[in-house]
Amino acid sequence: MAVTPSIHGMWSTRLAFILAATGSAVGLGNVWKFPYITGENGGGAFVLIYLLCVLFIGIPIMMAEILIGRRGRQSPINTMRTLAQAENRHGFWQLVGWGGMIAGFLIISYYSVIAGWALAYVFRAADGHFTALTGPEAEALFGDLVGDPERLLAWHTIFMVMTAIVVSRGVRSGLEQAVRFLMPALFLLLLALVGYALNTGQFMQGLEFLFVPHFEKLTAGAVITAMGHAFFTLSLGMGAIMMYGSYLDRHTSITRSAVLIALLDTLVALLAGMAIFPIVFANGLEPGAGPGLVFLTLPIAFGNMAGGLFFGTLFFILLVFAAWTSAISLIEPAVAWLVENQGMQRVRATVIVAILAWFLGILTILSFNQWAFSFPFAGEVKSNGIFDLIDILTANFMLPLGGLAMAVFAGWMMARRSTLEELQLPDGWIYRSWRFAVRYISPLGVLLVFLHGMGVL
Ligand code: TRP
Repeated sequence: MAVTPSIHGMWSTRLAFILAATGSAVGLGNVWKFPYITGENGGGAFVLIYLLCVLFIGIPIMMAEILIGRRGRQSPINTMRTLAQAENRHGFWQLVGWGGMIAGFLIISYYSVIAGWALAYVFRAADGHFTALTGPEAEALFGDLVGDPERLLAWHTIFMVMTAIVVSRGVRSGLEQAVRFLMPALFLLLLALVGYALNTGQFMQGLEFLFVPHFEKLTAGAVITAMGHAFFTLSLGMGAIMMYGSYLDRHTSITRSAVLIALLDTLVALLAGMAIFPIVFANGLEPGAGPGLVFLTLPIAFGNMAGGLFFGTLFFILLVFAAWTSAISLIEPAVAWLVENQGMQRVRATVIVAILAWFLGILTILSFNQWAFSFPFAGEVKSNGIFDLIDILTANFMLPLGGLAMAVFAGWMMARRSTLEELQLPDGWIYRSWRFAVRYISPLGVLLVFLHGMGVL
């Protein structure tokens, strides 16, 4: 099937695909979200559940998502419809594509606002705001930013325009070029930060927090959050990776790509954690400080180290780039769908999607100031109104459900010979383990976590 290329274009090389998919996976999820939710959920045990979910649920589903995309060669909605038809399955499978598109809209709406914080911090770093910064000063600096909806709106707008520009340029000249140099640079800088934390932070206390599990701290909600984060950080469950798979040539190994992408993504998250928690403990900050955590800790680190002005600026620039290469993958499916079904030009489609997402983003902006309120069920954890609601709905529910559906589709709905052909594996233990995983382990894993979260288990 699908020997014809995608109408939207194709990756120029195998490396381009790996970089783009890694660019999608590595983003705010690793550097911003992972540390703060780990802090809110008590550390080690949460991290362990997250790692198990990446391994047993994430990697098999990533393979399923790429293979479905490559076989369908269209936007997730049309890919699911085409493949369901080819496998003689019901047309409702295209709902997976629709759900994914909606999840993508919801995620990009807040993602762009947070990326706007990172943009703002590039300038705060560059003009010396971090110099000799103390804990309370860092809190004031952050509070000033998120308390001001107009400023947040300005940065959100700039980031959304940046995202739209890349997406409107298309697969080769847009997406590909953006990721070539940025990912390696971010990686190196994180290593340097870990080096700083090693010398000045409470390094052992940080490591202990991250890696020593205390299962008594693990709430039912935390288990769902850990699984949701595995989906979020790997960009799974909404069709972003499916879309990127649709631009992939027939010869690239899906298995090796998926393992590599997951490995790199996990490494970046763990490095970010190892850089951040030692600084948290050394400066008397709260691990459960919430979404502001990296914006409190890292400025302190940069403000008190040699060359901090330079490295701080560089770091936030790279964080913006990491967010940028993720954001494009969040709207690419919707844009591709408009091009396919409405016969729209790519540029026009991008503008429409970006404007819709921009409007939705206003809800998140107001969550941190005018509309800040706490949900009664949030208990001890500080809540940020509608932002939390969107985040929990997408990461904890829509993505795992989308991923579950993809696993079931690849494992049960597609003929064995179709998936075998698409993965281009010999009919040996690797293929069989994968098939076993998408048929049983991933779906049951998702269900177990849901049941546990609802208090049934
Ligand atoms: N994975 C990205 C991050 O960690 C966010 C992201 C990009 C995403 N594309 C996605 C999340 C698709 C879910 C689905 O920052």
